Amino acid sequence: MLNIEKTRVGIGLEKPLKVLHITDSHLPLCEEGDDPRILAHGMKRDREAGLAALREEIEYGEENCDLILHTGDLIDFVTPSGVAFLREMLKNPRFLFIAGNHEYWRCDGQFEDRTYRMNSYMKMGDLGADIFFVSRVVGGVNFVGIDDAYHQVEDWQTQRLKREAEKGLPVVLFLHAPLFEQSLYEKSIPFWKDGSAYLVGCDEEHLLSYPEFRACEQRPTEATKRFVETVNAEKRIKAVLAGHLHFGFESRLPGGTMQYVTARGDRGNGREILFF
Ligand SMILES: [Fe+2]
Ligand SMILES: [Fe+2]
Repeated sequence: MLNIEKTRVGIGLEKPLKVLHITDSHLPLCEEGDDPRILAHGMKRDREAGLAALREEIEYGEENCDLILHTGDLIDFVTPSGVAFLREMLKNPRFLFIAGNHEYWRCDGQFEDRTYRMNSYMKMGDLGADIFFVSRVVGGVNFVGIDDAYHQVEDWQTQRLKREAEKGLPVVLFLHAPLFEQSLYEKSIPFWKDGSAYLVGCDEEHLLSYPEFRACEQRPTEATKRFVETVNAEKRIKAVLAGHLHFGFESRLPGGTMQYVTARGDRGNGREILFF
C-alpha cells in the first residue's frame, strides 16, 4: 500500500511542478548461478513485495507527477538480473536516478570504498545513463544528482555541480546519503543502533560514537568537506533530496536550504513534492 507524504517547496516558479521522490527499493533480484552469498541473502528477502511497491509508486508518479526521482539502493546487490532491471528502469524518460551503496554491493564483506565501487561498476556494463552525476532541466528547474553512496563526494562532482548552478536556474540537488545536520544526526544514531549516523560530512566530534571501520568509511575527505561547503553556500540550490536512512525526515541544513529525506520505497513510501 502506498504511503505518499506531500511536501510543498516554494521556489518562485511561474508554473508548479510535481515530483515523486522514491528511494531504497532494495530489490533482491538474483537467480541460480549467482554468488552463493548473494543467493543466501537474497532468498531471505521478499522480492515480490518490493517489486509490487515499486510498480505502484511508478504508476502513481506517471499519473500524478512530472518527474520521478529515485535516490538509489534500487537493487540490493549486483547481479546480472538486478543490473538488467536497473537498465530497463533507466529507459523510462520520466525517471531520473542516482546510485546508492547497494547498487555496488556484492555481499562479500569487503570494505566499501571507491575501488570497490568501481569494481562493481565495471561488472555492470553499459547502463545507458550516468549513475555518478546526472542533471536534467524539467519545468525550469535543474535537477542535479550526485552519487555520494559511500558518504564521500569527489572534486569533479563538486565542479560539475558549480557549473550546473552557474546556468542560473533553481537547482534541486538529489543524493543517496543525506548531508549532516544536527537533528537528523540525533534521529539517525538510535535508529541504526551501531553508533553511526550514515551522513555525509560528520565532524570528528560526531564520529566519536562510530565503530572505527564505520568512522573510516564515513569520515569526510577534504574533497567531501569542499562539497558540503559548496552546497551550504550555493543559494541557487533550493532543496536537497536524499534517502539511505530508511526513515522520513526534513530539516534545514546549516546553509539554510531544506533537506528532505524520504523513507524506504519497498514499504510503499514516497514523497510527492510540489515545487511552486
Ligand atoms: Fe538503503
Ligand atoms: Fe544506502
